[in-house]
Amino acid sequence: MLINNDTIIKDTDERIRLVSEDVPLPLSAEDEALLRDMFQYVIDSTDEEKAERLNLRPAVGISAIQVGVPKKMTAIVVDDQDKNGDPVRYEFMLVNPKIVSSSIQKAYLSAGEGCLSVAEDHEGHVVRSARVKVRAYDLLRDQNIEIKAAGYLAIVLQHELDHFKGTLFYDHIDPKDPFKEVPGAIEI
Ligand code: CO
Repeated sequence: MLINNDTIIKDTDERIRLVSEDVPLPLSAEDEALLRDMFQYVIDSTDEEKAERLNLRPAVGISAIQVGVPKKMTAIVVDDQDKNGDPVRYEFMLVNPKIVSSSIQKAYLSAGEGCLSVAEDHEGHVVRSARVKVRAYDLLRDQNIEIKAAGYLAIVLQHELDHFKGTLFYDHIDPKDPFKEVPGAIEI
């Protein structure tokens, strides 16, 4: 599937609010091809030359509903730092990911969140769990995996899995007090 900034559906399209369904495993050839195309989108989107040439908006993740397919599949590529401050890249092609536990402690990105399906800026704190444990089938590794995520990766996972419920990041922003302080929350 051709995925670019013109084919990605925006929040002006009511399909973005659809609830996504579980995907049968093993993957059909069609589902596998779509997930690989989504992953390639994310990889290519952070390459300046390709992004320009192919009309890609930079992203760390994309979910299938964003190309109009209401199935629980998401591709994620997150560059972060490990505990020692060394660069680390997290890459996943997840099918039927499920959050199995969440920390009580909250976290949010100080710069706020963005989304390929949201054209405008929506400023404010998107308060999420600081840590999540996710179970999924990962096409990249061809096995079931458990991800223990903290920090930026935990935020990205929650953002992408929200798409399966038709939830967008700005739904979490309090319109009356967008920068409301949350006691004990980690600012990332
Ligand atoms: Co999004």
